Amino acid sequence: MCGLIGYSGPRDVSGVLLESLRKLEYRGYDSAGVAVVNGALEVHKEKGEISVMESSMPPMQGHTGIGHTRWATCGAPSWKNAHPFLSQDRKIALVHNGIIENHNQIRKGLLENGTVFSSDTDTEVLVHLISHYHKGDLHAAVRRALDDVRGTYSIAVVEEYSDEVVVAKKENPLVLGLGLNENFVASDVTALLEYTSDVVYMEDGESAVISPRGISLYGADGSAADRPPSKVQWSMEEARKGGFEHYMLKEIFEQPRSISETIISYIDELEMLEILPTRKKVDMVKILACGTSYNAGMVGKYVIEELSGIPVQVEIASEYRYTTKTNRCPLVVLITQSGETADTLAACREAKDRGSFTLAITNVVGSSITREADAVLFTKAGPEISVAATKTYTAQLIAVYLLAARLGYMNRSMGDEEMRIFKASLRALPNKVSEILDRAQGLQAAAAMFRDATSAFFIGRNRNFPSMMEGALKLKEISYVHAEGYAAGELKHGPLALLDERTPLVAACLGDHTYDKMVSNVSEVAARGSPILLIANDDNEDCETLADQIVRIPPIEPLFSPVTLAVALQLLSYYVAKERGMPIDKPRNLAKSVTVE
Ligand code: F6R
Repeated sequence: MCGLIGYSGPRDVSGVLLESLRKLEYRGYDSAGVAVVNGALEVHKEKGEISVMESSMPPMQGHTGIGHTRWATCGAPSWKNAHPFLSQDRKIALVHNGIIENHNQIRKGLLENGTVFSSDTDTEVLVHLISHYHKGDLHAAVRRALDDVRGTYSIAVVEEYSDEVVVAKKENPLVLGLGLNENFVASDVTALLEYTSDVVYMEDGESAVISPRGISLYGADGSAADRPPSKVQWSMEEARKGGFEHYMLKEIFEQPRSISETIISYIDELEMLEILPTRKKVDMVKILACGTSYNAGMVGKYVIEELSGIPVQVEIASEYRYTTKTNRCPLVVLITQSGETADTLAACREAKDRGSFTLAITNVVGSSITREADAVLFTKAGPEISVAATKTYTAQLIAVYLLAARLGYMNRSMGDEEMRIFKASLRALPNKVSEILDRAQGLQAAAAMFRDATSAFFIGRNRNFPSMMEGALKLKEISYVHAEGYAAGELKHGPLALLDERTPLVAACLGDHTYDKMVSNVSEVAARGSPILLIANDDNEDCETLADQIVRIPPIEPLFSPVTLAVALQLLSYYVAKERGMPIDKPRNLAKSVTVE
């Protein structure tokens, strides 16, 4: 996954490119570069973060250009593999997100024609191919070259002595931004918010030509297309750090609002919400997702089964294709905050091939999954910049609660009275989350327990178990402490052998029907000398003696405890990572949306 930007207009283009690239850096940050049209083309790129590229950047004057920030997929992170790439005659420059699957084959043909390659990337073949087909019309050359390409892409291309940026998209996000006598393209709207809120989301197969005079959009068949722009609701402020030290902390603190907005969007019409198949009886649900979204799916299993009685299976999206074709289900739910995760998109296609109705839960309007799935439930978390998912996770939990209630009402497991009570509890949730945020200091104090840890275990039971898996995932992602989330009852079947006085245990001992069994499981660990951090409700007193540290969270209707628990664990992992001095918003080797399988 990478980020790209393109601009044409009266502004100093290098300023626009740098500013926009900074907003896209979460999409990849192992090299960055820009190409500016200043009569001829000028290119500057560096290995490393955008700040590295910026610090060595010579003055680059011009009003048209493209920029890129890379997350390596084909060819190691290096100067030579950084985008933009130039054609051999230096007349065309190109940036690309995605993968050219048949690049070896294309490269072979170009080598026979005498092309000299300067990088190990799949992308470079494309700029040479465009150059090969260029007979005076860059847009026509781009479209012709793309006919030869198998794979996925969003690209932006410029040529010398021209104020046009040619762009095209297939299975990678690309959004056009409309201004007054200036126009933009970016892989994400966050890069454009500084300049415009009028955008057009490009569709697969489309191409466009951007210049100060306007944007010409072309459909997959090459004919002129016209789509009115939509208004982005996200403000600039939402996309900025807002005074917090890290995006992650800011995003954790935004949760009362993101949860509330997701609830508000659907709650009034929940009984009749049109997200379910009309012609199929839903007697089973399958949830497919990756990473944090998978953990949200696991919570979904418990709550859907609890509210609707419908059995739910949760599978890792990348594994679904290997299951037997008879593994099919009337309703398949795809959870993906970015809407661009290649594994989840592939699982969506596979589910459709198997005849399932597909429902996507995503945070990004216009993302690929919204075009692939039969129906969409949007989370309203706003832009999430930090690589570690936080507010999108809790918004996903709200979405699965809404889905569970909708299914429960549909099959009459929930009547009007149950629905009324459910809605009232759901509406109370944002305030409970605020109460946990008010207690952030307690979690900061507890983080010291992990300062020198190399491994940690997180345990919970029933619907709290997946949120403990999520707590463990957050800890390993951003603090690099090895962590495992376990169903508490499973600990004694193997992992207990790993517990000793250097291995902290985090346990959710919340006041529900699992409380007594949780206390027993924690006692087993206490006997091995592991430092114990308990997450308990305000009124759970008898577990106190077992704990080295205890963090209190407000009691809540047990159905919703995965949400409050998740927020507490996000704060814990944030403060552990801070204590250990980690690059919290950009953990090594990870990227915000994973567009390769
Ligand atoms: C963890 C994280 C990843 C993503 C996973 C799926 O903090 O962000 O585990 O959850 O890559 O991403 P989406 O939800 O975009 O499909």
